[in-house]
Amino acid sequence: MVDINKIRIEPPIINSSCAWASELAQLEELYNSPHTGAVTTRTATLDGFTEDSSHAVVFGHTSASTPNSYGYSPHPLSSYIRWTQSILSRGTNSKPFIISITSNTVNELSQMVEHIQELRRTLGDDSEGSPSRIAIELNTSCPNIRGKPPPAYSFTTLLPILEVLTHAYRADRTLTIGLKLAPYLASFQFEEVVESVASLSYDLEDGNRVNPFAFFTCTNTVGNSLFFAHQTTSSLGETNAYALGPILGGLAGEPIHALSLGNVYSFAHLLESHKDKAMREIKMIGVGGVMDKSGVQRMKKVGAAVVGCATLLGREGVKGFEKLA
Ligand SMILES: Cc1cc2nc3c(=O)[nH]c(=O)nc-3n(C[C@H](O)[C@H](O)[C@H](O)COP(=O)(O)O)c2cc1C
Repeated sequence: MVDINKIRIEPPIINSSCAWASELAQLEELYNSPHTGAVTTRTATLDGFTEDSSHAVVFGHTSASTPNSYGYSPHPLSSYIRWTQSILSRGTNSKPFIISITSNTVNELSQMVEHIQELRRTLGDDSEGSPSRIAIELNTSCPNIRGKPPPAYSFTTLLPILEVLTHAYRADRTLTIGLKLAPYLASFQFEEVVESVASLSYDLEDGNRVNPFAFFTCTNTVGNSLFFAHQTTSSLGETNAYALGPILGGLAGEPIHALSLGNVYSFAHLLESHKDKAMREIKMIGVGGVMDKSGVQRMKKVGAAVVGCATLLGREGVKGFEKLA
């Protein structure tokens, strides 16, 4: 059992935000599984993302890999709020939903956070005593949005957006907030993220020091990856065709496992040795290429409190989580 601020995750295995956590039926199945300790929804925008045939996922046939060119969910945040409310009001346990959202603008993000807070008030989720059943994950790292590189790669530009979440947390410390981060390659990038987030810590009246962010989810897919069609299970025998319409996409699954482990390790190390006590409270959700129990163990060994999977879910369905227990 792992507590992250006010949410409780038991078992500490979850799906990470993805195209297979997009529809009501998929979310219900994930919620009903005894092998998931929380359900993460596909990233929603305020009004829904315009999806077309260029947005797709393919499965590699020589490795458990999934290049994809998806943007965000076509369903607006209001759908996820309605679905989450409907599932949780029937649910009998404390399994939480991590609602993944994104926005580039302060106004829009403020509205989205307010909608989620309304849901939490309706569910009685904002009381001090019992565990909370709703958390927010801000996706800063989708590599597939044309003309908009992931803000996670220029982290200081994200500060106005992070201020919105800071403001929400200052008003209600029962709100659990996390950041979905990109895969980074150089040590200064990890330091920039950690120091930017540390700049948002503050002291409470009782002298306790807190940070608005309770978790980092690492990593998102590796952008600008390229698969040929013949490398995928949807191959029609062509040799030169590209697997994805936009040619480039975000890579997930086994080929990114080493990079994701390195990212979790780097963040965990920086956080646990941080001079700001509030930063030492931030927990890691390790995601990237976890396909079996040994992958879970590796993620835990490098500092993940909770382990998440997307490719496993896409390849094997919810029953894939059974083998991680
Ligand atoms: C088809 C697909 C869709 C995804 N959509 C999202 C998304 O909406 N939001 C998000 O934060 N991450 C998204 N991801 C990234 C996953 O959450 C995860 O970070 C990444 O796939 C690495 O984990 P894995 O190797 O277990 O797949 C998506 C991944 C895939 C494969």
